[in-house]
Amino acid sequence: MRKVKVQRKIHEGHVILVNPDYPFQHEHEEEVIQLSENISLARTAGEKIQKSLEEIHGTTKIVYVSGKRSFQEQVDLYQDSLQENGVEFTRKYVAKPGCSEHETGLAIDLGIAKEDIDYIRPEFPYDGIALEFRKIASKYGFILRYQKNKQDLTKIGFEPWHFRYVGKPHAKIMEEKGLCLEEYIGYLNQFDGLQNTLKVADGEEGYEIFTTDQEIEFEIEDEIEVSISGNNVDRMIVCLKTTKELV
Ligand code: DAL
Ligand code: ZN
Repeated sequence: MRKVKVQRKIHEGHVILVNPDYPFQHEHEEEVIQLSENISLARTAGEKIQKSLEEIHGTTKIVYVSGKRSFQEQVDLYQDSLQENGVEFTRKYVAKPGCSEHETGLAIDLGIAKEDIDYIRPEFPYDGIALEFRKIASKYGFILRYQKNKQDLTKIGFEPWHFRYVGKPHAKIMEEKGLCLEEYIGYLNQFDGLQNTLKVADGEEGYEIFTTDQEIEFEIEDEIEVSISGNNVDRMIVCLKTTKELV
């Protein structure tokens, strides 16, 4: 057995909600890796996206269009888009500076490799190699963040190219339940504490998830993996990886 301590660090981790109501706190930037000459991503998200494209033999057919952006890069993008595309388009497709998932390093825009790629709205369709990626995205911890039927909640237009790393098993659960990140964060609140967990099986793996707004400490068997993230709102999200038989 070992002791696990959950500290109240609500603004960091892979499951943080970043939107106009909950800006990203830049002091919690994760170390990045380089995906291509100009594009970097937070380490885990970067390694997972690389692996996912390798699995579908998509590394030359799919390109990284935009990864991590600094706050200033988001400011510049927003201003340039206002000039070129106007207010309505910009509000729909470019997040307010400070509130872009790209600033976290956990979001990646993907495009089909071709000559002229639209930087704000790259082509990433629902067939061919892009569809192959969509089928495996959640297995690597990615969600399609801005869906057509969730625009009222996300306050962003439909973006078939923008994928957000939240990790396993969160991506799978959101996909299966049809929840966007705003809804998922709310849904998890009911699982409050170690005695009241969400239990999910994913293939041979089993997970127990709970949230807490307190600093807590608990004992756990050595073989159970624990991952902890803030939700960037008010709570910590704790995920225990057990086996299918235990959940
Ligand atoms: N295109 C997304 C919303 C962003 O700018 O973060
Ligand atoms: Zn994006």
